[in-house]
Amino acid sequence: MKTEAWIYRQYGGPEQLSLEERNLPALKRDQVLVEMAAASLNDWDDGLLAGRPFINRVLNGLSRPKTHVLGCDLAGTILEVGPNTQQLKVGDRVFGDLSSSGFGAFQRKVVVTEKALTQMPVGLSFEQAAALPQAGMLAFHLLEHTDLKPGSTVLLNGAGGGVGTFLLPLLRDRDLRVTAVDKREKWEVLTRLGAETCLDYREIDFTTLPKSFDRILDVMTTHSVADLRKVLAPHGRFITVGGHMNRLLECFLRSLFSRSPKTWQVIALKTNRNLRELAEWVLAGKTECHIDQTFRFEELPKAFETYRQGLFCGKLILKS
Ligand SMILES: NC(=O)c1ccc[n+]([C@@H]2O[C@H](COP(=O)([O-])OP(=O)(O)OC[C@H]3O[C@@H](n4cnc5c(N)ncnc54)[C@H](OP(=O)(O)O)[C@@H]3O)[C@@H](O)[C@H]2O)c1
Repeated sequence: MKTEAWIYRQYGGPEQLSLEERNLPALKRDQVLVEMAAASLNDWDDGLLAGRPFINRVLNGLSRPKTHVLGCDLAGTILEVGPNTQQLKVGDRVFGDLSSSGFGAFQRKVVVTEKALTQMPVGLSFEQAAALPQAGMLAFHLLEHTDLKPGSTVLLNGAGGGVGTFLLPLLRDRDLRVTAVDKREKWEVLTRLGAETCLDYREIDFTTLPKSFDRILDVMTTHSVADLRKVLAPHGRFITVGGHMNRLLECFLRSLFSRSPKTWQVIALKTNRNLRELAEWVLAGKTECHIDQTFRFEELPKAFETYRQGLFCGKLILKS
């Protein structure tokens, strides 16, 4: 069977993507065939397209990419199931993060292991479902480490992306006082979602503030441990899910060897663990998938350009 897919064979920009017909592999016993309805762009897709940082080349080929179809977050409908599948059946509406099972959401039809997918609850749209898996799980991990008394202070660095916009209402729900760091153009949305104060990282370096925070949650890790220490409360914790590699390494080493009551943590994504719960939170209005723009399938390069330019708030969606 053939499908239309966005293929790239060289690292670089959106111009490396070409829309082509490709043969789908035959279904293995535990795999399903999904008709893609929506997908979303993630930092990881962009990193794999660019071949940057270098770790992405270690994962996907030093000089040329080995995986040719990108796309972590998928939502769609099951068209066929392999003979050993346990949970899913033809016609089910499903969603999931394919980053642990070979990527490939940016194609009309996707062959993927059943384990990467979860049934969508009734009421969730395909766009919401595609926005959720990776950013939602990273937000979930950060929330798990934010067990604080009401009124405690939290700084969220990189608040305007997929993770931050999903997390803000959940922090507000715990009566935490959140300072959100991102571009001024996103403040209106960030304030509506739960930020008490907003800072523009182009105008002010938050580590120079005469303040301290009980938690600093980070998706960009733009500062050194030495600078972050200055704005962490005496028993404060810094928790990050991503950002500059050298900064992440520094935090990781500090997490192993620090004797200070201030603690450091780098969290690895556990894909697809709590998707059903995350979706229920959206349906109950506890949080939302903030979708900035939806692009047609043919417009994937434009979607990547928009991602690289920044200024979008929340998620960018690709719709089949
Ligand atoms: N731990 C893991 O296993 C794992 C797995 C997958 C992904 N990740 C990482 O998790 C993170 C995902 O976050 P996300 O989905 O929210 O990303 P995102 O949607 O790209 O959002 C990032 C936000 O940070 C803002 N930003 C850019 N430069 C900044 C700076 N210097 N200071 C403060 N904010 C800045 C961006 O704004 P502009 O673009 O407008 O500048 C954007 O609003 C990424 O770092 C990704 O690499 C980790």
